[in-house]
Amino acid sequence: MRLKDKVVIVTGAGSGIGAGIATRFAEEGARVVVNDINPKGGEATLAAIRLGGGSAVFQQADVTTDDGWTALVGAAQQHFGGLDCVVNNAGWTHVNRPFVEVTEADFDRCFSINVKSVYFSAQHALPVFRAQGKARGGSIVNIASTAGVRPRPGLTVYNASKGAVVLMSKSMAAEFAPDQVRVNCVNPVFNPDTALSSAFAGGEVDEARRAKFMATIPMGRFSTAQDVANACLYLASDDAAFVTGVNIEVDGGRCV
Ligand SMILES: NC(=O)c1ccc[n+]([C@@H]2O[C@H](COP(=O)([O-])OP(=O)(O)OC[C@H]3O[C@@H](n4cnc5c(N)ncnc54)[C@H](O)[C@@H]3O)[C@@H](O)[C@H]2O)c1
Repeated sequence: MRLKDKVVIVTGAGSGIGAGIATRFAEEGARVVVNDINPKGGEATLAAIRLGGGSAVFQQADVTTDDGWTALVGAAQQHFGGLDCVVNNAGWTHVNRPFVEVTEADFDRCFSINVKSVYFSAQHALPVFRAQGKARGGSIVNIASTAGVRPRPGLTVYNASKGAVVLMSKSMAAEFAPDQVRVNCVNPVFNPDTALSSAFAGGEVDEARRAKFMATIPMGRFSTAQDVANACLYLASDDAAFVTGVNIEVDGGRCV
């Protein structure tokens, strides 16, 4: 039980990678606040965790809002008596297209869901971590992307948003370290099995598009939610007690 009794918020846990992280964390003894803006997905993840004997609650919230984070951190405190870790997984991309065709609305949405959410998470979590004391500390794990360090064409605004997450995480790591609060990123490579995959690929993930992505991954397969969850598990656990400001690429060598 590598996360026994740790209280963790996982955002965007109603589908895809986030559902995998929330479920894996619960298997390792975490008490999980499952978040999503979409209640159907969030309730499904909650049910799966409870079926497996795990401890969790679902809190619907929009992570781009201050009120959403008040509700999320409040749920952790009310149901589980504190907070140890936030996994910022909720994310979104504009459809793969030339840079000049990305609308202002899509630019704003991308930065709001991918970047502003991380800002709000720290605004709300840090005071709680500080109040709980240095002996307990705290941890923030941000799901950025290989896009933030090794960008592909057609996703420039998304890439930039993830680059911002990477840099903000390193900067927060430096600033929060004296409080024993760690901030790290996990950077997955393409996963064709989530709702966002067709937007990344610029259309249905058919054989031609799969082959194009596959050719860029030296280990010859795509990432899975389990791959990402396992890296997050390490960073959230006490095994990573002295690890802060790093990116773990979960990418089969894509970024080498
Ligand atoms: N799938 C990939 O190839 C890939 C690769 C690298 C990084 N990522 C990142 O992984 C993360 C998860 O993506 P995914 O591929 O599992 O996609 P997904 O669409 O399955 O999951 C994203 C979840 O976030 C939720 N969400 C969106 N906006 C929200 C908001 N404002 N408040 C709360 N929840 C919100 C959605 O409802 C959804 O359940 C994202 O940050 C994404 O950028 C994905």
